Amino acid sequence: MRLKDKVAIITGAANGLGLAAARTFAREGAKVALTDFNVEQGRHRANELRDEGYEVTFFQVNVADRASVDKLVEDVAKIYGGVDILVNNAGITRDAMLKKLSVEDFQRVLDVNLTGVFHCTQAALPYMLEKGWGRIISTSSVSGVYGNVGQTNYAAAKAAVVGMTKTWAKELGRKGINVNAVAPGFIETAMVEKVPENILDGIRKTIPLGRLGKPEDIANAYLFLASEESNYVNGTVLHVDGGIMM
Ligand code: CAA
Ligand code: NAI
Repeated sequence: MRLKDKVAIITGAANGLGLAAARTFAREGAKVALTDFNVEQGRHRANELRDEGYEVTFFQVNVADRASVDKLVEDVAKIYGGVDILVNNAGITRDAMLKKLSVEDFQRVLDVNLTGVFHCTQAALPYMLEKGWGRIISTSSVSGVYGNVGQTNYAAAKAAVVGMTKTWAKELGRKGINVNAVAPGFIETAMVEKVPENILDGIRKTIPLGRLGKPEDIANAYLFLASEESNYVNGTVLHVDGGIMM
């Protein structure tokens, strides 16, 4: 088991990539805090994983709200005795062309996808410093690296995640904490289902592997970065996108 007895907080884990990560991490022996804004789905998913025999507990959190994040991290540390791994996976889209993008939708995406990553990382950090070991993994996106039509807000936040990741990798490397990001391409989740089919068809044609990714493709990348196998990987952005960036 590659994560035996590690305590992992995964945000946005009621669906999509976070849910796949929760299952993968639990299978590898981690004690998983499955966290999400959506209480009903989160509880349901945690129950399903427990029925599969895994050590998983649901915690409600709004990553955009600092008090909510502080409570989450305190509760997890109280129950499991610390925090070893943080996966900053929660994210939203509010896509619109620049000329139509509202200030509210611009700000909302930054609050969740950027400030949320800051809140969770700062709140979890003391527990990792205490142990002298930690793994921080944040979810960027191809959109944050090469831009994407209709995603001013989202691309800005995901590019900023790369900047924070590299900064934290420099600050925390000597403290035994590795900080990395994953930049997924287009993956089959509810988020991508919202893309109009004709546009998605066009995107699909540009993927050298000829298919959209599956949530497990990203969960495996998170697992690598959370495990001891990535001991010398720090400050990297792991592209898991079927080659769409070439
Ligand atoms: N590539 C190229 N052209 C695009 C495009 C794309 N990805 N998306 C939109 N366009 C073009 C349209 O074809 C259209 O062109 P014409 O004016 O020549 O007809 C023009 O841009 C305007 O598009 P719409 O008519 O669709 O404008 P709208 O205001 O009705 O909708 C939109 C705008 C909401 C951005 C809609 O186009 C859309 O949803 N686009 C997809 C955005 C997208 O790719 N989101 C990714 C979500 S998944 C995700 O975010 C995960 C991740 O990290 C990758
Ligand atoms: P999803 O929409 O399937 O799941 C996201 C989860 O985050 C949902 O369960 C939602 O309730 C939760 N969430 C939303 N706002 C929250 C908040 N404020 N606090 C706590 N939880 C919140 O999305 P998906 O596709 O699984 O995306 C996961 C991450 O991967 C996101 O950061 C997304 O931007 C990123 N990503 C996704 C790609 C894709 O193609 N699906 C590609 C690149 C990046």
